[in-house]
Amino acid sequence: MNAVPRSEVQHLATLDKERVWHPFTPLREWCAPTHEPLVIVSGEGAVLRDAQGQEYIDGNSSIWTNLHGHCHPRLNAAITRQLGAFAHCSFLGQTHPAAVALASALVALFPPDTLTRVFFSDDGSTAIEVALRIAREFWLRHGQPARNQFLAFDLAYHGDTLGAASLGGIATFRGWQECNDGPLGVVRVGGVAELAALPQKVIATLAGAVIEPLVQGAAGMRLWPAGTLAALRAWCDQHDVLLIADEVLTGFGRTGTMFACEQEAVVPDLLCLAKGLTGGYLPLAATLTTERIFRSFHGAGTREEQTLFYGHSYTANALGCAAALENLAIFRDEQTLAQLQPKIALLAELLHAQLAPLPHVGAIRQCGFIAGIDLLQLSGEPFPPAALVGARVCQAARKHGLLTRPIRDTLVVMPPYCTTPAQLETAVNALRRAALEITSAGC
Ligand SMILES: Cc1ncc(COP(=O)(O)O)c(C=O)c1O
Repeated sequence: MNAVPRSEVQHLATLDKERVWHPFTPLREWCAPTHEPLVIVSGEGAVLRDAQGQEYIDGNSSIWTNLHGHCHPRLNAAITRQLGAFAHCSFLGQTHPAAVALASALVALFPPDTLTRVFFSDDGSTAIEVALRIAREFWLRHGQPARNQFLAFDLAYHGDTLGAASLGGIATFRGWQECNDGPLGVVRVGGVAELAALPQKVIATLAGAVIEPLVQGAAGMRLWPAGTLAALRAWCDQHDVLLIADEVLTGFGRTGTMFACEQEAVVPDLLCLAKGLTGGYLPLAATLTTERIFRSFHGAGTREEQTLFYGHSYTANALGCAAALENLAIFRDEQTLAQLQPKIALLAELLHAQLAPLPHVGAIRQCGFIAGIDLLQLSGEPFPPAALVGARVCQAARKHGLLTRPIRDTLVVMPPYCTTPAQLETAVNALRRAALEITSAGC
């Protein structure tokens, strides 16, 4: 696609500043007359293109969603095919072929008779809300209304709706820094070692325990010690607490296996999927659960007790389901997971060869095709937050052809799986050059 005329881009930017409110974006900075917003107009494979025609490697997979690249011919065709039939219909008390096929395909990804039921919703946050609602109502149906709180971890992030945000362990993302309690009862721990000290009377209030398996994404791609997930599964079994795995970020190959839970041979009671479910094309989410939990609703007495009073207008959107089905077909046909393994190894090599030697680079964490790189002062201390070092490095990386977004001063590299070895090298090199430019200019 050709560059958009400059006057058109300027008009767009002015109108945006007058009318749009962007998420996770400081408003005064965005609306400043001197600020030239990045305007993305097209994409292909691992590359996004802006209105001036400049190309960027999509270094964080468009906020951790895109898997097989932009404008993938098969995904585009699948959505178009579904569009030829219909785009959307209600899922309340009726069904459609793409949703049924997708639910069956998702269940088939897990060992037989484990996760057997799929409840659709719209995004990662609603996938979590569904899990929370099901878990609480499960215990109500078992005559245990006191089990209405959730165990969650320090630095957790599970989304921005009020229930999901209450689970969050990062105050900034909760939005109510002054007041520690969200609308949901949460028992917070730092790690599984603290579980042994929880009093029985607290455990008796727990409906479920929620964890991001293997990697806490928004915490800065923080890796759990090996065995954490399996230990939490064992503790949940011991105390009959439902285990809720939030694979919104880690699902669909990000950690090198289809699901992170596989790496510790864990099957949760509720599993939340979103982001990569549609290959990063459309907002769709799924909460998978077991027959035991489904039966507690199905076998309940009244019509009302059999009903989960939860659902959104766009639940099981047909375009989203068609994209998700094609996403899974691509995994099979293109052997996506096998193709990804050498790229995971190359990413490790590049990070250690190009970034580890830099004086301001601290820890580098990698899990599959996810990497977090900490920037630190020479003293080893974090930079003052106001210096915005991570943001400035990512801004500088754009000139070198990489688009990514930091988590405070942790740089994130997690491009689409279709990224070529040469593009991966360009991406890491862009961060190296940007980090050197910003840190040597004084922070
Ligand atoms: C682990 C995890 N859970 C839930 C969410 C929320 O997903 P969404 O932004 O689609 O609501 C995110 C988003 O980054 C996430 O990383």
